[in-house]
Amino acid sequence: MFQLTRSVTWQALERLRDETAQDRIRDYFTRDPQRFDKMSLRVGGLFLDYSKHLISDAVLGKLLELADHSALVQRRAQMFSGDIINVTENRPVLHTALRNLGDAPLQVDGKDVMPEIHQTREQIKRFSEAVRSGEWRGHSGERIRDVVNIGIGGSDLGPNMACRALLKYRHPELHFHFVSNVDGTHIQKVLSRLDPATTLFIVSTKTFSTQETLLNAKTARRWFLDNAGEDADVGAHFIAASTNRQAAMAFGIREENVFEFWAWVGGRYSMWSSIGLPIALSVGFDGFMELLEGAYEMDRHFIEAPFKDNMPVLMALIGIWYINFQNAETQAIVPYDQALNQLPAFLQQLDMESNGKSVDIFGQPVGYKTGPIVWGETGSNGQHAFFQLLHQGTRYVPIDFIASLKPEPGFEDHHFALLTNMLAQANAFMEGSQDGTRLDPHYSCPGNRPSSTLLLDELTPRNLGALIALYEHKVFVQGVIWNINSFDQWGVQLGKRIAGEISERIDEHTQDFDASTQGLLKLVREHFDT
Ligand code: F6P
Repeated sequence: MFQLTRSVTWQALERLRDETAQDRIRDYFTRDPQRFDKMSLRVGGLFLDYSKHLISDAVLGKLLELADHSALVQRRAQMFSGDIINVTENRPVLHTALRNLGDAPLQVDGKDVMPEIHQTREQIKRFSEAVRSGEWRGHSGERIRDVVNIGIGGSDLGPNMACRALLKYRHPELHFHFVSNVDGTHIQKVLSRLDPATTLFIVSTKTFSTQETLLNAKTARRWFLDNAGEDADVGAHFIAASTNRQAAMAFGIREENVFEFWAWVGGRYSMWSSIGLPIALSVGFDGFMELLEGAYEMDRHFIEAPFKDNMPVLMALIGIWYINFQNAETQAIVPYDQALNQLPAFLQQLDMESNGKSVDIFGQPVGYKTGPIVWGETGSNGQHAFFQLLHQGTRYVPIDFIASLKPEPGFEDHHFALLTNMLAQANAFMEGSQDGTRLDPHYSCPGNRPSSTLLLDELTPRNLGALIALYEHKVFVQGVIWNINSFDQWGVQLGKRIAGEISERIDEHTQDFDASTQGLLKLVREHFDT
């Protein structure tokens, strides 16, 4: 069987790692004045500078060879055409179909799925326009003013992140809330500020079986019934985005208000489906379509651009260089944009749930590291929190800086400070402070710490769509090179199953659990009348 680490290219990269161990990124710029021009590229409204990496021309050449020798061309074609690439769940992976704006049919199991996608898009359009215009009324005839999305994981993070990012495009009379945690204080806090007569709940759950979401949805319904309507009124205030129409209807949601999507859309890839309803309600259907257009543009770029000019491929290869050859454990995401404050959490799920795998697609253990620990926080806040470790600590952490160029009118001075802070940090991480003015090692910053800078012309729905699709494809490319299945999450399923067992068997005093779990359960039992 093909073993990645035994390949000629992998071994050449290991040699290059040793040969370049003493290299300084700054010297690459001295040697090649064209480096910035060569190592930057634009796709639509996104500009990527990847010149501040510990990557020589020779390293980049070999990384590209790694992509050439992988199954990337074939696997990419399989993904876009609906082949079953999620092998453990026996499913195609077709989130790209949701933003496919081309005319060609797309067959899944011998059936063209594009008409259903168009139909659901139409349903989203009609519904979002009715709510935004005030035509949709609650049970007492009042218009909707608050929208509460109840969902978790992929049924929360995408729409939550996008609604915050696009807050300035929000309908002025609608307010959006996201309840995810099973901790009752989360929903309690949200509900305490709302009027049931003017609140719409979206129960967002692919499976309609996730414990947290069902419990929160039931609490919301009870609150609605206790404070406003009757059973028959539930339909005017609860809608669902789900693949499980029957369960949604059993909950009391009207059939026409179940917004369908399909098993071939993974949870963490679902913001382009009806899970994106809060986005359409917030920014309007046209804005939602712009989001899809931006993602579609990135899809076309990913399919068409040669690897050497392909933004997701380059970002994936840079990541592989650090994870597999430089021993980097983590990847920091630092948006210099307060509107993107949920982006690190979104990318955390996207990357870690996708590529947190240790067997390949044949079930064989991989002999190399896979997905990094993804984390981050907005700048400039992070500068005053964790940047110290990045500058002078013992860890090696590549950083993605992300910002939008266009200032908010009236806040140009803030925006100028924001962007110059970001550029200063990226420069400082690379250069360090080896200027000889302070010889005491306490003051010395080693530098040579790598970063990418991603600039959006402006934080618009279109550019946000392209940005998210960029990261989706980056994760995909890495998964293909590591030969893992990026589209299942069996570790998460294990946790879900055991949570179910523990809550069902809490009264049994069972010896089946380990002594620690039994001891802790005993303490928990004392507080519940089970
Ligand atoms: O976190 C695991 C997971 O299965 C995610 O993949 C998914 O986004 C989330 O749970 C929620 O699942 P559902 O949308 O079915 O409620």
